[in-house]
Amino acid sequence: MTEKFVAAAQQERFTRKKHDPAFPAEAIEYCLEEAGINVTDIDHVVFYDKPLVKFERLLETYLSFAPSGFRSFLAAMPVWLGEKLYLKTTLKRELAALGNCKQGELPDLMFAEHHQSHAASAFFFSPYQKAVVLCLDGVGEWATTSAWLGEGNRLKPLWEIDFPHSLGLLYSAFTYFTGFKVNSGEYKLMGLAPYGQPVYVDLILDNLIDLKADRTFRLDMSYFNYCTGLMMTNDKFAQLFGGPVRTAETEITQREMDLAASIQQVTEMVVDATCANAAQETGADYPCLAGGVALNCVANGIVLRDGPFKDIWIQPAAGDAGGALGAAAIVWHHYRDGPRTVDGKSDLMTGAYLGPKFTEAGIRNDLDAYGAVYRQLPDEELFPAVAGILAAENVVGMAQGRMEFGPRALGGRSIIGDARSPKMQSVMNLKIKYRESFRPFALGAG
Ligand SMILES: [Fe+2]
Repeated sequence: MTEKFVAAAQQERFTRKKHDPAFPAEAIEYCLEEAGINVTDIDHVVFYDKPLVKFERLLETYLSFAPSGFRSFLAAMPVWLGEKLYLKTTLKRELAALGNCKQGELPDLMFAEHHQSHAASAFFFSPYQKAVVLCLDGVGEWATTSAWLGEGNRLKPLWEIDFPHSLGLLYSAFTYFTGFKVNSGEYKLMGLAPYGQPVYVDLILDNLIDLKADRTFRLDMSYFNYCTGLMMTNDKFAQLFGGPVRTAETEITQREMDLAASIQQVTEMVVDATCANAAQETGADYPCLAGGVALNCVANGIVLRDGPFKDIWIQPAAGDAGGALGAAAIVWHHYRDGPRTVDGKSDLMTGAYLGPKFTEAGIRNDLDAYGAVYRQLPDEELFPAVAGILAAENVVGMAQGRMEFGPRALGGRSIIGDARSPKMQSVMNLKIKYRESFRPFALGAG
């Protein structure tokens, strides 16, 4: 048997709820359909982290900070007791319902570790035979940053930095402090950075993060509230930056832009130092990156430009969604000792076009069902027609081929406009995507 990566999709794309935490029934149904199999044909089902270890971290953190944090402890507990600790039961029940079978007919459930899943999603799908793998994340079970050595079909842990010392959570603290939503507003902070000056870099390095000569770092937890509170930062953090947290949806001032530029520069410094040290420690020519911080494309660009590596590979779904790929790869390569063949050039992601595609008949059926007025054009008429619509400063929704897996629009599902138009960026941001006007678009796809 050999490996063939058939499909990957996120539940949010089917339900249209961003970060939908529900059991991903539609996403699984789609993957099974693409593979042409049923639930009972599956050999292994694997989940990308270990909820019990995560729960232990939560309990230990609360206990070590007790009695402060009791309120957030109470807030977190019902979710854990109600759902997360019974994940195995929930998964079995839902999978059986999906497969229309008895729970006894289901394959065994397996659990990989969070950072191991990230690392596997980076290395096993990369083009390299040997690489150093860096996971730069918020937090999983305990690890926040970890390094691995990947070789052939094996991934070996090298070192890790544990909670609460986390580059991802530091970045999220600034996301929170500048009035954006943690876990989804990090992009906005990155987009805001070019508008500001990095005037707070020294303040951050002198007070918040101690970047050691080796690749480790520690945060001064007296400025943060995420261990015990429902907020990321506290009054001491606000005092350091001369004012309170920005209220969401209020005007963005120069201070937020400067904070964004400063934390961006610190992030780049830490990522760069971590990569440089990893290269020195392992002698590897290539790094593979995953984890939420690896979505910081500006920092990745600096590693490639200034770092010691010949090239770099980043898992396109570097956030937790990609953990599913990694967990599956661990079962195949580590548990089943499945072989891995690479050519040093092309990766296994097929451009991240791993989701469903629309058929012509399906599109026509849906349009007819809604009584939509439409025209079907051959390509030689379609392209000039779309170009004309774009040139008249209109915005076009585009779907072609399979849907991308991961947070980036790569031309599969995109909203396109004329880059020459001075008003296009704000039209798209405000009217179409309902997002802040400063946010950048890709030149090829947005
Ligand atoms: Fe993660």
